[in-house]
Amino acid sequence: MVGAATPTSAAVAATVAQVVPSTGSPVVVELGPGTGSLSDGIHARLPADARHLGIELGADMVAHLREHRPWLEVVHGDAGDLVSVLAEHRIDKVDAVISSIPWSLLDDDAQGHILDQAAKALTPNGAFTALTYLPAERTRNARRFRERLHETFDEVLTHTTWRNFPPILHYFCRRPLV
Ligand SMILES: C[S@@+](CC[C@H](N)C(=O)[O-])C[C@H]1O[C@@H](n2cnc3c(N)ncnc32)[C@H](O)[C@@H]1O
Repeated sequence: MVGAATPTSAAVAATVAQVVPSTGSPVVVELGPGTGSLSDGIHARLPADARHLGIELGADMVAHLREHRPWLEVVHGDAGDLVSVLAEHRIDKVDAVISSIPWSLLDDDAQGHILDQAAKALTPNGAFTALTYLPAERTRNARRFRERLHETFDEVLTHTTWRNFPPILHYFCRRPLV
């Protein structure tokens, strides 16, 4: 369930980090931080009072993150348990959910469940981002994911980062419809 050929580039991380508040005391959660290549860009932008959690399924990735990204609150768990993980960490709502889990490899039910958890976790003005490989966009699961984003959020914008192999299609979503 890694779903990645190579770690994502700094250009991808810089694009994703734009949704993260740079002032105040925001709470940001990453779903599937993997090697932490997005985490660095997010961390660089977050203010000192922020909380930055990462929920990661892979035990090896969890160990890697704990060793190399000590500022990240790493949870060894499943993105599908987002709401209960946040409750365990005494967090009510989050300002941004940043996901790099392999959405196009997930079936309809899993996509729907994790998106529902993300929508419930966000503040009304919170941001959700997802990234998918551009070449995979024509697959059935990728099309279904796009439809689900429009069912879950009032605003769904896209952006392509070409400086990555393969190129990345970003989704930027706001105003959860829950
Ligand atoms: C594409 S990789 C991470 C990409 C990351 N930006 C990088 O460059 O390393 C996807 C990650 O999501 C994790 N993952 C997959 N399904 C997950 C789930 N349901 N909950 C949490 N993490 C998950 C995988 O273990 C993997 O580390």
